[in-house]
Amino acid sequence: MSKKPFYITTPIYYPSDRLHIGHAYCTTIADSIARYKRLSGYDVFFLTGSDEHGQKIQRKAEEANTTPIAYVDKIVDSFKHLWEKLDISNDDFIRTTERRHHELVQAVFQKIYDQGDIYKAEYEGWYCTPCETFWMERQLTDGKCPDCGRPVEIVKEESYFFRMSKYQERLLKFIEENPEFIQPVSRRNEMINFIKGGLEDLCVSRTTFDWGIPVPFDTKHVVYVWFDALTNYITAAGYLDDREKFAKYWPADIHLVGKEIVRFHSIIWPVILMALDIELPKKVYGHGWLVVEGDKMSKSKGNVIDPLALIDEFGADAIRYFLLREITLGLDGNFSRDALISRINADLANDLGNLLHRSLSMIGRFNGGIIEAAGEAEPVDQDLIELAQNTAAVYQKYMDQQDINGALKAVWALIGRTNKYIDETGPWALAKDPAKKGRLNTVLYNLAEVLRIVSILISPFMPQTSPKIWAQLGIAANFADVQLADAKAWGRIEACTAIAKAEPIFPRIEEAPVNEAQAQPAEAIAVPAPQPEAEAAPDTPEITIDEFAKVDLRVAKVLAAEKVKKADKLLLLTVDLGTEQRTIISGIAKHYEPEQLVGQNVVMVVNLKPAKIRGIESRGMVLAASCDDKLQLVTADMPAGSKVK
Ligand code: ME8
Ligand code: MG
Repeated sequence: MSKKPFYITTPIYYPSDRLHIGHAYCTTIADSIARYKRLSGYDVFFLTGSDEHGQKIQRKAEEANTTPIAYVDKIVDSFKHLWEKLDISNDDFIRTTERRHHELVQAVFQKIYDQGDIYKAEYEGWYCTPCETFWMERQLTDGKCPDCGRPVEIVKEESYFFRMSKYQERLLKFIEENPEFIQPVSRRNEMINFIKGGLEDLCVSRTTFDWGIPVPFDTKHVVYVWFDALTNYITAAGYLDDREKFAKYWPADIHLVGKEIVRFHSIIWPVILMALDIELPKKVYGHGWLVVEGDKMSKSKGNVIDPLALIDEFGADAIRYFLLREITLGLDGNFSRDALISRINADLANDLGNLLHRSLSMIGRFNGGIIEAAGEAEPVDQDLIELAQNTAAVYQKYMDQQDINGALKAVWALIGRTNKYIDETGPWALAKDPAKKGRLNTVLYNLAEVLRIVSILISPFMPQTSPKIWAQLGIAANFADVQLADAKAWGRIEACTAIAKAEPIFPRIEEAPVNEAQAQPAEAIAVPAPQPEAEAAPDTPEITIDEFAKVDLRVAKVLAAEKVKKADKLLLLTVDLGTEQRTIISGIAKHYEPEQLVGQNVVMVVNLKPAKIRGIESRGMVLAASCDDKLQLVTADMPAGSKVK
């Protein structure tokens, strides 16, 4: 049976500057929908690209003292690099400077001209270059661009005009008869009102600069950049050069765009398609804007967030998860570093990471690392299994309405329920009683199965994490072959599956201590500060020798030490433990110069949970004695790896 086609697009972004977190947000949403559709068995065509012509780019290139093409080539490379780092699964990347697009734009312009829907006249009005938009005097707000608020320029030149007015009634009728066409519904009402206000013919060529596609029959004109840009969606689908492909993927299922360009996609674009007698896309979805700590991103404010730096620091999956979970599609949302870190710690390290880690470590300790066949069942199991099986259906319902947030909440409800299931069933108690082996097997099997299902459901959002979970569970099947239907089935993990080594998938981000390294009961930062508690030693609760024995203390030789950038209290140490080398972050920079440390044999806690500090994973903690503002590392003249007890 041939698969059903699904065509989704992002805006093609201007390569006037590098992309920021807002662009990454839109592309992540589109990517997640594309991946979800593939998981659901669709033949997906997912398109993104770059919108390279126009006055704005030409000016940018002039300012940079280079040619437009040299200017955009470099920036487009950075787009592609970002999409790779963010794990974007686009099937094509269209550049409007490509030959295939040049040919299409000229063919389409000629066709519309030949049928009399493009005519020559004189344009006199205003132009917003940052938005590449024409405005009438009466549309301006305080003499500025009504969309972006920036100054506009007067334009008076001979132009070709596109007879939009002719299509006004047809467009209105289409929008009214197709309630799904413009989403969300608030944007739809806005567009209906706009059209009812009267569609004017659109100026579709310029003569005062030349960075564009020439009008084929009058080459002193270049085609207006929005007319050029919008048609990218049919170029890439093969309208001109691959009719079979075009028949398969057109009409597009979703054009995902930011709310500020819904107007271009739900008015100008449909009218171009009507003039060409091509079916209209099924949906234009206008997503909201991302602001940063409550403020609009802008270069002049210096608050533009670079997604690459975030990916380097936190990983692509964590950034993707945050963007999808924190912001409701269609509404504006806020980006803040604190919110990002709390999401990572609460949802990823805690809820998901702990579920995986607890489950695997219990399978390891109680069942020798083997997922055994389930034994006796109890009602509590049935509850969990039902929820697990239903989650995929609920998730599907949300995803089919582009409610990614709702889908994620459903998955996290299952994760939360399963963490609770561990506490309710108490596998550690079952493990102590040989008569309860069957129950223990049931509980551990169910945990592994939920994790299998969760890994499938999160794969459109966190494509790197899912195969990692499979690998740790020891599932042999290739993750790439997984289908959504596999998340609705229970009992797919084969009995006697041997799990692999458990590795934390999302280490906790310990950022607070970084600023006040000395004042925190730091986990991975050495050195408790000279706090009153330090003197109050007699008040600390007693521990048994067994409890103390859990702390694995070893002698470690410092191989290298360096300051951590922008953190005046932190040093990054590389140490040798005899059997391995590790990096650790230590809050001792106020007391030691890096050079003083190299070659010293210090004492270190080696089995401390790893923590991520300033993007670096710290695995262990160095011991030091402190008093008032003095601090001295504990050293031992013994070989690296020696146990301290
Ligand atoms: O408009 N929050 O390109 P563009 C969320 N070339 N999304 C944001 C955002 C923010 N703060 N900033 C940008 C163009 N975006 C045209 C498109 S399509 C035929 C031509 C996203 O580089 C959002 O999706 O200005 C917005 O619509 C798009 O980037 C605009 O990118
Ligand atoms: Mg823009």
